[in-house]
Amino acid sequence: MKPFLKWVGGKARVIAQLEQLFPESFNNYFEPFVGGGAVYFDTNAKTATINDINKSLIGSYINVRDNVDLLINKLNSLQKQYYKLDEDQQKEMFYRIRNEYNNAKNYSSVKKSSLLIFLNKTCFNGMYRENKSGGFNVPFGKHRKPTICDETNLRAVSEQLKNTIILSGSYKKAVENAKAGDFIYFDPPYHPLNSTSSFTSYSQDDFIEKDQVELKELIDDLTARGCKVMMSNSYSKFIINLYKDYKQYKIAVGRSINSNGAKRGKIAEIVVTNY
Ligand SMILES: C[S@@+](CC[C@H](N)C(=O)[O-])C[C@H]1O[C@@H](n2cnc3c(N)ncnc32)[C@H](O)[C@@H]1O
Repeated sequence: MKPFLKWVGGKARVIAQLEQLFPESFNNYFEPFVGGGAVYFDTNAKTATINDINKSLIGSYINVRDNVDLLINKLNSLQKQYYKLDEDQQKEMFYRIRNEYNNAKNYSSVKKSSLLIFLNKTCFNGMYRENKSGGFNVPFGKHRKPTICDETNLRAVSEQLKNTIILSGSYKKAVENAKAGDFIYFDPPYHPLNSTSSFTSYSQDDFIEKDQVELKELIDDLTARGCKVMMSNSYSKFIINLYKDYKQYKIAVGRSINSNGAKRGKIAEIVVTNY
């Protein structure tokens, strides 16, 4: 089982390092900034709650769980269509679907979810980015034969999601029911290393310094409630200082989101735990 979407900040490449920092045992699992869900899928949690502010992303989790047959049909048909085309025609199809996706207002429709998965597999770098008015604006990726419909994985993911509460709202509300012994992993938009270095605008809502402080206060509260908490962030002075009373680990991450290939080296990230 692996993420069915590639997402900015996806944790697939550091999962082995993060796994070593998971608590030895826990009851329920919570991931309030789930994104592509690499960590969620890795935990194989029996009961979980996942959340993200991005409604189209959450709509696609719900459809993979509840409407997987219909979704697979639609993706198979998009894949068949796409494979028959030459590169110019594929490009034309990509922009037509991007338009259709941006005009599909019902976040939770199977159609919108199938278009999101199609775009994620065919766009540049397989990432998600929106412009100021909320439209998906990543350009064509020139992939000749990407796997648009990975039926086996979608079915495995669908089964795993059956034990999961899927929410789209505030990260604070997502952990309201967390109890002692539960494990919560926070992967918020990172605090920028410098004013231009970081991409923190995943959707229309930015995550600023004040939000990092509020998240830390929530983690203090969860700690007092006996929850096991782990958080990833940038290895920045601000974050190191904010979490000075917590355990801190430095991990090296190979990054691919920088559009400048030369800057795609390893970068340090922090992992903070309260256990
Ligand atoms: C770093 S990404 C998560 C990456 C993810 N863990 C993975 O492995 O792919 C951060 C996510 O937080 C979401 N987000 C941003 N602000 C949020 C907020 N205030 N509440 C909930 N989710 C938010 C974004 O939509 C984005 O998907």
